[in-house]
Order: sequence, then structure tokens, then C-alpha cells
Amino acid sequence: MYHNAVLFKNIIDNLGIENGKIYVDATLGGGSITLGIANRLQTGTVIGFDVDINAIENFSNKGLQIINPFHFKLKDVDIYLINANFRKIASELTKIGINHVDGVVYDLGVSSFQIDNPNMGFSYKAESLLDMRMDKNLKVTAQDLLMVMYKNELEDMFKKYSDEPFAHTIALNIVKERKKKKIQSSLQLVEIVKSSIKNQTYLYRHVARVFQALRIAVNDELGALNDSLLQLPTLIAYGGRVEIVTFHSIEDRKVKSFFKENTDKFRSLYNNIIYPSDVEINENIRSRSAKLRIYEKI
Ligand SMILES: C[S@@+](CC[C@H](N)C(=O)[O-])C[C@H]1O[C@@H](n2cnc3c(N)ncnc32)[C@H](O)[C@@H]1O
Repeated sequence: MYHNAVLFKNIIDNLGIENGKIYVDATLGGGSITLGIANRLQTGTVIGFDVDINAIENFSNKGLQIINPFHFKLKDVDIYLINANFRKIASELTKIGINHVDGVVYDLGVSSFQIDNPNMGFSYKAESLLDMRMDKNLKVTAQDLLMVMYKNELEDMFKKYSDEPFAHTIALNIVKERKKKKIQSSLQLVEIVKSSIKNQTYLYRHVARVFQALRIAVNDELGALNDSLLQLPTLIAYGGRVEIVTFHSIEDRKVKSFFKENTDKFRSLYNNIIYPSDVEINENIRSRSAKLRIYEKI
């Protein structure tokens, strides 16, 4: 099921939305940000990117005027959908004649719809095949990585992408297990993590970290983010804004360091991170790790 994005109101209120301008929702998901921006405009353009074709296909149920499956209208506001990775943000926009935009929003990670979809293999709570590709055109799945990576590569992946303290033992046990049997399913991986940790009190924290690291690796999430950020200085018009919601420290560090290196091009709007309120965290536990950073092109 789709919900409003985490920190929805903060994102929409701080994007500096003005009629006639062009905004990009780099991570369409359930579409709340795209629609939230469109609803604030009388005229203008909103472009929603998603690498997962399901997000694009599900968008058509929103009661908008359908021009074609990738172009909708809400009164005089054009909404375009692009099924592509945001790492190609500038070239994909050029294809539809757009070279500069007035705001870009990234709501990183996976949607609740993707987590709940057993075909994606993101959830460790239900049995599913360990696929984890948001883009089904990618060739390598999580299963493939678990079967082909060397022990030290697995260990590095769990350390680098999720700061997992038991990375070494988990990697060792993956290698032991795959000699006996192909590692294919989510619950099989949960069992391996379980067997690698003495104190089971926080088992699911470790499981979540292992799943997160695999997901980041399969989708090259940090590489995609880096490639996309590098295009922003030329893509965003003066006074335009970038808003980025991250859900773990690894990607937040990347965002923070990029904008620190580019203080001649962007200024931080609040010099502080915006966190979800206690009310939002109570309503949606997934929001508890969210951080919103906002920058303006100077
Ligand atoms: C947290 S969800 C976004 C939720 C959305 N803001 C909403 O209102 O429902 C992240 C979405 O971004 C997509 N995504 C993740 N990485 C992407 C990338 N590199 N390029 C394009 N889409 C990406 C995922 O497929 C997912 O649908």
C-alpha cells in the first residue's frame, strides 16, 4: 500500500514552489511528492522518475487526465513520468526538451509497496526469493552476489554499506552455507545471520543491516546517488532547491560531503537536518531514521 512520503509537508512547504516552474521528483514511488507539487501549482511541470516500472504503472490510478501512460495533466499542470534511474537525470530530461529545473526531490531507498511485495525480496519478515533489483533490467540479483562474492568482499559489503559489526562471521557463514546449498530465500539468509550472532536480543537489527547492504550493492545505490548529485550544479536554475531524504547514515554522509564540497554552488537552507516529529514517528515507524536536508542553488 502507498502512503504519503515521510516528511511530506516539510518537503512540499520548503521546495519554493512557484507557478510556471519545473520540478523533478527523482523517486516517484507511490507518487505523493509528484502529486503534492502538482497540487500546489496552477501551471508548471512536474517530472517523476522511478527505476521501478511498477511505480510508473501504478501512477495511472490517480484520477488525472491521461494524455498517454507517461504524460498526465492536473488542470494546467503537466506531469511526466520517466522510467529510468536518476543517475541519468540530465540526459533523460534533455530527451523531453528540459535542460534546467527549479527543484529536485530525492526520497531515497525503497517504498513500502516494494518492501511488501514478495517478488522484490526486500523483506526479511516473509519468505521470498532474494532478488532485490528495483530495475528488473539489471543482470545481478542478491542471490547472485551471495553465491559469487568472495568472503572478504561480502564482509566489506556488510561493513561499508551498513556498519554491521558481525560482518566477518556473517560472511564466513554465508560461504559455509553456500557450499552445502544455494542461498536463495530471505528466511534462509535470516537463519545464517541468526547463526552468526551470539546475543539474539537485537537479531533483527543485524538482519536489517545485512538486507540493507545487499540492496545497496545490487542497485548500486551510492553510485547512482553520486552520479545524480554531480549533475545538479548545471541542472538546477539559480534559486532552485534540492531536497534529499535519507534513511541511513551511509547515504546521508554522501549527501553531506557532496554539498560541503560545493558550497560555492549551493547553500544549506537550514544548516540543520529536519527530522520527523514524534507524531509522525508514532504513525509510521519507518520514518524514525529519516533526515531531510535542503539546499538552494546560488
Ligand atoms: C522511498 S520510495 C519514494 C516514495 C515516494 N516519495 C512516495 O511518495 O511514495 C523510493 C522510490 O525511489 C525509487 N528509486 C530508488 N532508487 C532510484 C534511482 N536510482 N533512480 C530512480 N528511482 C529510484 C524506488 O524504486 C522507489 O520507488
